[in-house]
Amino acid sequence: MFNETKPVDRTTSQPRPAQSPVATVDSSPETTGVSVLIPTYNERENITTVVTECLKALPSSAFELEVIVVDDDSEDYTWQYPERLFGDDPRVRVIRRQSSEKGLAQSITDGFGAATHDFCAVIDADLQHPPEKLPELLDALKEGADVAIGSRHVAGGGIENWPLWRKIVSRGATTCAGVAIPDARRISDPMSGFFAVRRSVIEDVDLDPQGYKILLEILGKGDYDAVTEVPYRFRQRERGESKLTAEEYQNFLEHVGQLAVASRNLDEVIDPMRAVRGAEFAFVGATGSAVNMLVFVLVVSTNAHFLLAGLVAFLAAVNWNFAGNWLVTYDRPSGNLLRQYATFHGVSVVGFVAYTGTLTVGAISGLPLLIANLFAIIAGSGINFFGTETSVFPTGATREPVSGQV
Ligand code: GDD
Ligand code: MN
Repeated sequence: MFNETKPVDRTTSQPRPAQSPVATVDSSPETTGVSVLIPTYNERENITTVVTECLKALPSSAFELEVIVVDDDSEDYTWQYPERLFGDDPRVRVIRRQSSEKGLAQSITDGFGAATHDFCAVIDADLQHPPEKLPELLDALKEGADVAIGSRHVAGGGIENWPLWRKIVSRGATTCAGVAIPDARRISDPMSGFFAVRRSVIEDVDLDPQGYKILLEILGKGDYDAVTEVPYRFRQRERGESKLTAEEYQNFLEHVGQLAVASRNLDEVIDPMRAVRGAEFAFVGATGSAVNMLVFVLVVSTNAHFLLAGLVAFLAAVNWNFAGNWLVTYDRPSGNLLRQYATFHGVSVVGFVAYTGTLTVGAISGLPLLIANLFAIIAGSGINFFGTETSVFPTGATREPVSGQV
């Protein structure tokens, strides 16, 4: 069952029972039961306003509401603010996540686990998402949608004050998501952090807390048919700071790559994270080949022997590849750097032997040279990857989950 094995770490305020005595069942036909999740990290300047606006947007006459603030134990004590201001309001709950890793997706996943109603909505705390649009999202669910998405890219939607580069990156990311995840293709804003879902959509899904685009996870893995998009304008952040860092772009691409494998059920064949590392390893290797060529040309131009040039070029590429894989593929892994460096050289030599061996056998058995070379490259890099995965960085990537925006 969804999230029963992942209890929320700690609720600072006593978890109050929802108004409905039976969880996930709406007690009256006139009111709609809804859990609104607000993930927060250092949002003390925004949190009380957004909670107030959510309460206003979803009045008790029409909604049986619970607002759950899921705070990552913010240094600015965000969690204290709603506790103080709304301590007497049974509709407001605060989860202060203390013991587990910080992260937007994990916070939302915990929020889903704590939510008691059938409809769950997610909204940012920084007022970039308009709380007054929540009823429209919930109406869409009432009318039969399984997922209702606040979209910046349907008629009536938009983004306030974004520079052109930001729009281009965002569009590029949306395109990537569409290519990778077939179900995301028909959706204009699969990157949205403002959405509502029926609980049944996510009930049996093992949401991956590594990913920070939780909606992509839901679209890639959830159980749903009808999706409705509701236009909204993504407003400018007035107070506090975005948690976006450059690292999150790589994180996003890795997440999309993993979903590309998982959403095609290929995860039974290969671990999605390993598949993504394989792609990154191949990418680094390709750039390493360019380094090899460049160094080779430079050394040959000094009238050095071509075998010496080859050796220098090989070593340059191995060092380049080590740095690239350490940084990108394995995300600055822990462990003894010197040992990793030495083992990588060893693995690369074995890979090189596999390469030359395959090339020789291919050429001798009469394969066209380019085809023989292709097989040799596959054999060499395959051995390199296998050796790196098992001997150089055996624990794989250890990237911290982070949040952000694309
Ligand atoms: N609990 C928790 N833990 N909350 C977090 C964390 C975290 O590690 N990181 C960010 N948040 C909260 C913020 O406090 C805010 O309420 C919300 O998540 C979004 O964070 P921002 O840093 O403001 O994100 P953004 O503006 O770059 O991106 C938003 O818009 C995107 C649409 O382009 C997010 O909603 C994205 O999910 C959304 O895709
Ligand atoms: Mn924001």
